[in-house]
Amino acid sequence: MRILHVASEAYPLIKTGGLADVCASLPRAQARLGHDVRLLIPAYRAAIDQLQARKTIAEIRLPELADSVRILETGMRDTASKVWLVDYGPAFDRDGNPYLDDTGMPWDDNAERFFLLCRIAVTIIHDENSLGWRPHVVHCHDWQAGMVAPLIDDDQDIVKIFTIHNLSYQGIFPRSTFTSLGLKEELWAMDGVEYLDQMSFIKGGIVFSDWITTVSPTYAREIQTSDLGCGLEGLLQHRSDRLVGILNGIDYDEWNPNTDPFIDFHYSADALEGKLRNKMACMERWSLQGDDKTPLFAFVGRLVDQKGIDLLAAALPELLTQGYPFVVLGKGDPLLERELQAIARAHPGRIHVQVGYDEKMSHQIEAAADIFVMPSRFEPCGLNQMYSMHYGTVPIVSQTGGLADSVVPATPRNLATKTATGFTFTRFTADALIKTIHQGAKLFADVQSWRALILAGMSRDFSWHQSAGAYLELYQANSK
Ligand code: ADP
Ligand code: GLC
Repeated sequence: MRILHVASEAYPLIKTGGLADVCASLPRAQARLGHDVRLLIPAYRAAIDQLQARKTIAEIRLPELADSVRILETGMRDTASKVWLVDYGPAFDRDGNPYLDDTGMPWDDNAERFFLLCRIAVTIIHDENSLGWRPHVVHCHDWQAGMVAPLIDDDQDIVKIFTIHNLSYQGIFPRSTFTSLGLKEELWAMDGVEYLDQMSFIKGGIVFSDWITTVSPTYAREIQTSDLGCGLEGLLQHRSDRLVGILNGIDYDEWNPNTDPFIDFHYSADALEGKLRNKMACMERWSLQGDDKTPLFAFVGRLVDQKGIDLLAAALPELLTQGYPFVVLGKGDPLLERELQAIARAHPGRIHVQVGYDEKMSHQIEAAADIFVMPSRFEPCGLNQMYSMHYGTVPIVSQTGGLADSVVPATPRNLATKTATGFTFTRFTADALIKTIHQGAKLFADVQSWRALILAGMSRDFSWHQSAGAYLELYQANSK
C-alpha cells in the first residue's frame, strides 16, 4: 500500500512531545512491513538544520502564494520510504517552537502555516504536481493536518484516516480566517468545519475522514463524554461507529536499555546490574542524596495542565521532607516551571529540577529511576509509562486514557500472579498520589516482589508490531 502520513512533527527532525515519536515510528513500522510510505511534515528551520542528505523533488505553485513551495526529500531511517518536507520560508523558516512564538503565544499565522501543509498534501493526493506518487491511504495526525480531508475531491479513491493524539488542541480560528483561506462556503456548516461560529481544523479531520482513531481504547471512550470531549463529544458520539482506539507502540530501536547510546550502562531483563549503576551515577550527577535502598522517583514531560503538575507540586514538599529523592525534567508553562524550581531551592540535595528539553537526559532518567510518576489529568496514550516499563522503571499513573490501558496495577491479586507492572490511583488528588507513592516505596523495600514487578513490565510487548497491524487492518476495512 502507498501510505501518506501528514503531521506537524516527527522525531528526530522536530519534537515537542509524543506526537513526534509516534509520527516517526508508526510510518517506519509500516515501511518495514513492506509498504511504500511517505511522511509529510513542515520544513521548519530546526528540521532543515538537521538534514544530512536532502534534495528538492518538486516545486509547487499555489495561486495564493507569491513564491513556489518546494518539497524536500530525505530518507526514513533503515527503510526505502521517505520523509518529505514542505519548504516555504515565510511559513516555516523561523527559530523556535513549531507552534509558539518566544512569548509562548501561538504564532499568529498558524492557520495559514498548517493550512499550507494540508494544501500540499492534497496536491499529492490529487496528483497535481510532478511527484507522480499517489497514495491509497492518507493518514492525518492532529488538528494541524485536519484540513486535508475536507479539501480532497469526492471522486478520489483514497482512504482517509484521522488520528486524534490530543483532543484538547483543536486549531480554532475566527470566521475571518475561514474567509481569507478561501474555503468553499459550504464548509461553513455544522457538518463542516464551523464550530461555535469559529473555524475548527480538527472538525475537518473528524467530519470528513473515513475513520477516526485515537491513541488508546480508553481515551476513545473518554472523548465521547462531557468530561473529556472538549465540546466535541456530541460529534464523536455521532461518529462512534467510525471511531477506534489503537494503543501506541514504542520504538525499540530508540528506546532499548541494552543499546541506548544516551545511558551510562547498558542492561536487560537478564542482566539488571546496569540499572543500579545508572541510578548511582545519575544521583551523583544530579547531586541527589540517597543510596541503593532509597527509591529514586522521576518525572519527564511537558509542563502543562494535562500532566497534573499541580498535583505533583502539591505532593512534593511532603515527599521530599520524608526523604524520597526526585528528578524532574520538563518545559512548558512558565508558572509551573518557576513553581518546581522554587521547590528545588527549598529542598537542596533531595530534588533535581531541570527546566528545558533534553532528549539525552530523558533517556538517562528512564534508565536511572526506580519509579516514574505520571499523575496526568487526562492522557490520550502517554509514552513514558511504556518507556519506563521497558526500562525496568515502575510507573505510578493516574487511571486515565492510555495509562489505564497499559499499566497493570499492583493489586494483591496481580502481585500474586506476577502480572502487575505499576501502580494506579483513581481519585485525582495530591493525597491519593502521596498514598500511592508510599505504597510504591513500601513494595520497593521488598526486593523479591519489586523484581517481579520490574520483570513483568520489561517482558510486556509494547513494540509497534501489533498497533501497526491494527492500522493496516483499518486501512483495508470497508471504508466508504
Ligand atoms: P505528550 O505527547 O503529551 O507530551 P507522551 O508521553 O506521549 O506525552 O510523550 C512525551 C514525549 O516527549 C516522550 O518521548 C518524553 O520523553 C518527551 N519529553 C517531554 N518533555 C521532555 C523534555 N523536557 N525533555 C526531553 N524529552 C521530553
Ligand atoms: C499526545 C498525547 C499523548 C500521546 C501522544 C502520542 O501528545 O498527549 O498522550 O501519547 O500524543 O500519541
